[in-house]
Amino acid sequence: MWSSPTICLSFALVLLATTFSGSAAHNITEILAAFPDYSVYNHYLSQTKVSDEINSRQTLTVLVLPNAAMTALADKQPVAGVKNALRLLTLLDYYDSAKLHKISQGTVLTTTLLQTTGNFQGNLGFVNITDLKGGKVGFGSTFPGARLATTYTKSVKQIEFSISVLEVSAPILFSGLLDAPTANITESLEKAGCKTFANLIVSSGVLKMYKAATDKGLTVFAPTDEAFKAKGVPDLSTLTQLQLVTLLQYHAVPQYTPKSSLKTTKLRLSTLATNSVGNYTLGVTSSGDDVSIVTDLDTARIANTVVDSTPLCILSVDHLLLSSELFGSAPAPAPIKISPAPAPESEAAASAPSPDLKSASPPMFEETPSGAPESPAGAPEEETAADVKTGDGKMLKMRSTVGLVWLFSFTLAF
Ligand SMILES: *[C@@H]1O[C@H](CO)[C@@H](O)[C@H](O)[C@H]1NC(C)=O
Ligand SMILES: *[C@@H]1O[C@H](CO)[C@@H](O)[C@H](O)[C@H]1NC(C)=O
Ligand SMILES: *[C@@H]1O[C@H](CO)[C@@H](O)[C@H](O)[C@H]1NC(C)=O
Ligand SMILES: *[C@@H]1O[C@H](CO)[C@@H](O)[C@H](O)[C@H]1NC(C)=O
Repeated sequence: MWSSPTICLSFALVLLATTFSGSAAHNITEILAAFPDYSVYNHYLSQTKVSDEINSRQTLTVLVLPNAAMTALADKQPVAGVKNALRLLTLLDYYDSAKLHKISQGTVLTTTLLQTTGNFQGNLGFVNITDLKGGKVGFGSTFPGARLATTYTKSVKQIEFSISVLEVSAPILFSGLLDAPTANITESLEKAGCKTFANLIVSSGVLKMYKAATDKGLTVFAPTDEAFKAKGVPDLSTLTQLQLVTLLQYHAVPQYTPKSSLKTTKLRLSTLATNSVGNYTLGVTSSGDDVSIVTDLDTARIANTVVDSTPLCILSVDHLLLSSELFGSAPAPAPIKISPAPAPESEAAASAPSPDLKSASPPMFEETPSGAPESPAGAPEEETAADVKTGDGKMLKMRSTVGLVWLFSFTLAF
């Protein structure tokens, strides 16, 4: 029989696990900062923002490489390729030394952060862990014919039920892992249902500005075609060329911030439109897996990841980002159609007397008495393959947390 204190304890543990699964209880950057042997690894975790993905999850194992091995891995590789390798080294299950040596049947496939991206076919995002003879533990890709070329060398740090950090001898690799295909921005946007935006950035020349800014990191918020047709969207054909350029620059921030990083962003983001006269910043709010970009005038929910190739990230959003600098305190309520690619030199451009937007032009759209901005009804609730997979990962992770807790309670009961 289970004594009532044991049942109480089990219940408390379940509660504890439930509480912790909601918010991150660890900071991988801080954990690794205490170990100079992994400073290069830590640097790349931050640069690629894999650290944010790790911090937003529970029940995982980070396989770290000592500095020499990490330097060799990153040498002459595109950062996007290094990011893939780091994701494959992050197992979505908790393994400490004891558990590694107690794998049932001596071999197991375990999922990793790479699998959550949906960018690799089949189970390439899984890692084979095998308990080898002589107490050694080997890790390898599931790629046909791959060897178990990575071995466990030592335990670094454990926070029980949350995160385990283990050192391994070498990266886990497979052919294609480190490739970073250069994204064709317009093509990717068109495929993702952002054709209007793609046409606008090409015809206005802003695409060139985006490309020039990419090296130092760039995140673009691309409104979907539905967003351009939504009620309350101002008539973009009345904008001067300069205003249109500013609006499009307002849709990009000069840093690499994928969705997982935006979730933890608290500061306002400066955009490419920010200059000496205009304060073109964006706010970020998130709730669970939902992340929204907030301006003074509206809120745009992130729909999909269109391109995520460090240092470039393109996210589609379900609403245009309207800056109060350009559009006054409320957008014009009238539903107005815009042409997909307005001619660069419009009549409005000719009538704009000065390039200084803020001081020369009054807000384009004055507040009207009846002009309460309407939120677009029926905003598409799309989920990316990656999002769906992330969900699966979480389910799996939660199940394993609960499993561990029950195992623990069970052990205590006897
Ligand atoms: C994690 O730790 C690093 C280094 O101490 C710090 O800069 C960063 O803000 C922390 N991140 C979070 C989400 O607290
Ligand atoms: C892991 O790899 C070893 C060696 O290639 C193989 O024998 C084993 O079946 C694999 N394990 C799983 C679970 O696929
Ligand atoms: C990108 O794709 C578009 C078609 O959407 C094509 O016209 C263009 O030539 C491509 N650019 C490059 C650099 O391949
Ligand atoms: C810019 O915007 C931020 C946030 O809304 C505000 O705190 C700050 O005072 C603004 N700065 C200028 C120069 O308008």
